[in-house]
Amino acid sequence: MAHAPTPLTFRALRLLNHGEFRSGAQLAHALGVTRARLRRALQDLEDVGVTLLRLHGRGYRLPAPIDWLDPAQVRRSLGAYADAYELRVVEILESTNTTLLEQAVTGAPSGLTLAAELQTRGRGRRGRAWYAGLGGALTFSVLWRFEQGAGFLAGLGLAVGVALVRALRSLGVEEAMLKWPNDVLIRHHKLAGTLVEIQGDVLGPSLAVIGVGLNIRLDASMRERVDQAVTDLVSAGVAYDRNRVLGEILARLAEVLNAFQTQGFGPLRNEWGSYHVYAERAVTVRLPDGALEEGTVAGVGDDGALLLQTGTGLRRFHTGEVSLRAAGGGRERRVYSV
Ligand code: BTN
Repeated sequence: MAHAPTPLTFRALRLLNHGEFRSGAQLAHALGVTRARLRRALQDLEDVGVTLLRLHGRGYRLPAPIDWLDPAQVRRSLGAYADAYELRVVEILESTNTTLLEQAVTGAPSGLTLAAELQTRGRGRRGRAWYAGLGGALTFSVLWRFEQGAGFLAGLGLAVGVALVRALRSLGVEEAMLKWPNDVLIRHHKLAGTLVEIQGDVLGPSLAVIGVGLNIRLDASMRERVDQAVTDLVSAGVAYDRNRVLGEILARLAEVLNAFQTQGFGPLRNEWGSYHVYAERAVTVRLPDGALEEGTVAGVGDDGALLLQTGTGLRRFHTGEVSLRAAGGGRERRVYSV
């Protein structure tokens, strides 16, 4: 991105949210800056997924207003779970997971949730980058503290997937499915991903920073950056405001975390299995060292491990990348990556 958005960019975009043209002179005056500074602040917005019309003699217009995140609106969708969270919205930062991990170390409370309008260095699993445009996604992280040790949190990533599918289905996305360990898919296209980072002692206490990235409206520049089949909520016919979607996810997440913190993943295991897109399918697991294992998916364990029935018996995997095998036993090209 040549010029990252600045606080002035956000102020200007908010003034343009009515969808009408505003001249550069009017806008600059309202913001107390020169037109040249305003121009710089509104430069390169395509790089962050925002289309801004600029017309000589008319000024600027935002054709699709942004539904800005608003903690009060999210709170209204949270119902009985409103007190489980303290939600903070930040306009721009590198990564909500990174910032929340830093805050966790200095004593931030359980339930603290950080949502960003834009991440400049969003992180995905396995060291990958996570791209999301301004106003076109949900990118947020939740800090949750546990009395138990870090080992108890095995399976937490999968539990978060259950919460996401519950939320999506209650918003009408009946086709939302999971792919081990925790990708959310619609018709084999990735809709959302989670990055769960854990810290703590063996005997406890421990904490998790649960990061969620969910595509709401992917624009062409974001699709180009991603090297896998992706989709968004708008394509699934969901037209809810981002605040409503975030509220629904946080409510279902609190429900799942409350259960998890007393009983772990075990009670959620069957539900997770019912959402698994590769249940009982012939798959190949690519291990981090590049080795390949073939077998048939036989569910997941209480610790979230993938169970694979192989030629040499039942095997458990805690990490790896799963892909479908073509009918007839040959390896299908890797279509969907974790
Ligand atoms: C993946 O599927 O690879 C996981 C993607 C997780 C992305 C989210 S966006 C909010 C939070 N902050 C980050 O830097 N990453 C997670």
